Amino acid sequence: MEYLVYVSTAKRLMNEEELLDILTVARTQNKVHHITGMLLYSQGTFIQVLEGEKDNLSQLFKNIELDTRHKNVIKLMTGTINQRNFPDWLMAFASVNAETLQAFEGFLNPIDPSFLGSNDHVTANMLKIFAKANNLTY
Ligand SMILES: Cc1cc2nc3c(=O)[nH]c(=O)nc-3n(C[C@H](O)[C@H](O)[C@H](O)COP(=O)(O)O)c2cc1C
Repeated sequence: MEYLVYVSTAKRLMNEEELLDILTVARTQNKVHHITGMLLYSQGTFIQVLEGEKDNLSQLFKNIELDTRHKNVIKLMTGTINQRNFPDWLMAFASVNAETLQAFEGFLNPIDPSFLGSNDHVTANMLKIFAKANNLTY
């Protein structure tokens, strides 16, 4: 199985309804294609972790790259995983700010290092990159 992390810029600031639209379709489709992951949105920027079988993942990423609701889609990380980091999430979602990111990091940090499984700490890295790219300092 593989994972892929990308960032992108919303064409314009998204309201709740638009975000919900993306999420509803994503969750329906992801169920069919056995894709799991997490989508974060903050101030016009998306970051998403996708995980699934190679073919499903590359097809989805092609679709996502062509989606006109965002631009500057940049693949940050991709690799192989033995087990999913988000087994229970067809697509977890959060609209985040500096405080929620801080809470995430605290949550992911030292207390339970096994939280993300034995593979790379994709999520923790992802959050750091996201925070840096968006100047979300705390
Ligand atoms: C930021 C963002 C994240 C998305 N995430 C997913 C996703 O996880 N799964 C998915 O199927 N579609 C996702 N989409 C929507 C796809 O780009 C596409 O619209 C959807 O797969 C439907 O494609 P189709 O109608 O050609 O089948 C996302 C779109 C955006 C803008």
